[in-house]
Amino acid sequence: MMFKNSFKYYKSRKPFPDLKDVIDLNNPKCSRVIGFRGKLLNTETEHQVGLKPVRDWKVFEFVDIPGLIIIKNPFNSRAQRYWIIQALKYYSRKPSKLNLDAHDLLKEDELWWDVCFGQSKRAKQLIPKLRWATLGYHHNWETKLYSETNKTEMPANLSLLASVLAQSLGYTNFKAEAAIVNYYRMNSTLGGHVDQSEIDTDAPLISISFGQTAIFLIGGLTQDEEADAMYLQSGDVLIMSGSSRLRYHGVPKILPVNNAPWDDEEANDNNQYCKWDQEDWNKAKTYISEARVNMTVRQVLKPGQLTVS
Ligand code: OGA
Ligand code: MN
Repeated sequence: MMFKNSFKYYKSRKPFPDLKDVIDLNNPKCSRVIGFRGKLLNTETEHQVGLKPVRDWKVFEFVDIPGLIIIKNPFNSRAQRYWIIQALKYYSRKPSKLNLDAHDLLKEDELWWDVCFGQSKRAKQLIPKLRWATLGYHHNWETKLYSETNKTEMPANLSLLASVLAQSLGYTNFKAEAAIVNYYRMNSTLGGHVDQSEIDTDAPLISISFGQTAIFLIGGLTQDEEADAMYLQSGDVLIMSGSSRLRYHGVPKILPVNNAPWDDEEANDNNQYCKWDQEDWNKAKTYISEARVNMTVRQVLKPGQLTVS
C-alpha cells in the first residue's frame, strides 16, 4: 500500500485497522529490524538528562531503511515525569510560539499551563486546543522557512538532551537549533510530510515521544512508495538520519498505553538530576493520561554556517 492509503487505513476507527503488521520494537521478531550495527559512545553525561547508561540501551535499525534508528525508551521513569512537565509547563510558554497565538485564546499575560491546570472554567475548552509549540528558530508554517528575525533561545535542557542522544550515536557535531513540540489528543493525527525546511538535511532529526502510544508511519522519498508502520511508545527516541532524513512520515493514530512507564515505582525517587515538583506532576499526569507529546529537535544550519540568510 502506498503512503496515503496506509495512512487512511490506520487512521480509520470504523472499521478499526488490523494492527498485526505494525512493527513492535519490544518484540522485533520481524527480520527487517536488527540491533544497531554502529558503535554506541558513552558520553558520561547521560544521567544528567535522565537517560540510563548507554550500555543498557536497546538500539535498533532497519535493514532496508538506512539511517532510521530507534532507541527504545532509554529514560529512567523519573525523567519521564520531568520531560513531560517540561513539555507541558515550560515549552508551552514564551519564548515558544504556539498555535494558540493566532486565536486570542490566551490573554497577553496568561499561560496555557496556568489556565488549564488552575481553577479556570476555561480549562476544559483550552486543554485540547494546544497543538504545537516552536522553539529556537521558529518554523514558519506558511513559508516553510526559518529566519534570523524569528528566532529565540533554545531551552538549554532540551538542547543538551538532543546533543547527548546524537553524540551517543556518533553524531558528535549535532547542534540543536530548532524544535517543534507536537501535542496530540487521542483523536489527533499528523499528516504525511517531509521535514525539509532545514538547510542542513545531512544532520539527523531527533524525535522524542512521551505519553500515549503512536502508530508512526514512514514511507519513501515520494508519496507513491510503500510505508511501514511502527509503534512509538513513551520515552522512545527515533533518529532520522542519512537517506531516511527525507522520507515521508506521519502519525495516523494514537493508542492508549498498556503500562505507563511514568507510573513505575522507581519514578518516585526524586534525586539530584531531573527533579520535578509533585504538584506539577499531579497536573501533568492527568493531561498525559489522554495525550501524547512529541519533541522533534533539528539542526538548521550547516556546520560553520552562522545565519540562515
Ligand atoms: C514532526 C513529526 C512525528 C511524531 O514533528 O515533524 O514528524 O512522532 N513528528 O509526532
Ligand atoms: Mn516530521
